[in-house]
Amino acid sequence: MPRSTKKATRVAIVTGGAKRVGRAIVERLAEAGFDIAFTYLSSDRDAKKLVEILRRKNRRALAIKADLTHPDAARIIATEFRSTFNRLDVLVNNASLYLPSALSQIDKDQFAKLWTIHVWNPMALCREFESMLRQHRGHVVNMVDLLAEKPWPEYLAYCTSKAGLANLTLGLSRELSPEVTVNGIAPGVVEWPEDFPEASRTKYLKRVPLGRAGTSKDVADLVHFLATDGSYITGQIIRVDGGRSIT
Ligand SMILES: NC(=O)c1ccc[n+]([C@@H]2O[C@H](COP(=O)([O-])OP(=O)(O)OC[C@H]3O[C@@H](n4cnc5c(N)ncnc54)[C@H](OP(=O)(O)O)[C@@H]3O)[C@@H](O)[C@H]2O)c1
Repeated sequence: MPRSTKKATRVAIVTGGAKRVGRAIVERLAEAGFDIAFTYLSSDRDAKKLVEILRRKNRRALAIKADLTHPDAARIIATEFRSTFNRLDVLVNNASLYLPSALSQIDKDQFAKLWTIHVWNPMALCREFESMLRQHRGHVVNMVDLLAEKPWPEYLAYCTSKAGLANLTLGLSRELSPEVTVNGIAPGVVEWPEDFPEASRTKYLKRVPLGRAGTSKDVADLVHFLATDGSYITGQIIRVDGGRSIT
């Protein structure tokens, strides 16, 4: 019997993929032909709807409910992932907790929670998926933040954890070479936090040379590029900030 020459479908996993930026990444990769797993925590309804949308587009889709504050979350996610998929090409560490964390208010548990979500579990997920990613010459994209290099005092602990993720990105890019690329994306603003006051938006945008916020699509298109054509790019933190970092 002739061997099939059909190429296997690539698979991506996106943490925090039910809404906002994560959802745009999921939809962009699905549109490019990837089958998709994504994690979510509280957005059950959005997750269910997104799975239906992806399946209607003939993509295999799996939503995994997981709390990334749990130190074992990566193992739990990987086990569920493997029950459906036998390969992984792209891991996007997107889930995040934008927690106000000024010097006067942050406590040790909250500090640890931010580091568990933004640093520990992205690293643990890379370890869980290392062999699949190496086997398929895969890509890791970590969602960092411009605040990792320009910290806001009101979000001290959040900023340190994103700086940790930026550093982890560089370390992992060396560790997982030459088979796997590892990059970070550092947005300025691409989706406003809910309830972000209008006056604060205007104030922020005054310092953005392009004069406007970015969009989830800006990020999703870059993830897609890094996950497909950008195969000679690794160990980079790419700003998507309308030029905010130079003002
Ligand atoms: N939005 C921006 O303009 C901007 C700017 C700079 C950096 N970024 C970075 O870009 C990424 C996406 O931004 P975003 O604004 O779309 O993020 P987001 O809405 O703040 O968070 C994304 C998802 O993370 C999930 N999440 C929160 N806590 C979790 C936990 N304990 N366990 C598992 N999942 C958890 C939530 O899932 P559920 O909804 O299911 O609970 C949420 O939908 C983030 O990493 C963010 O730091 C975004």
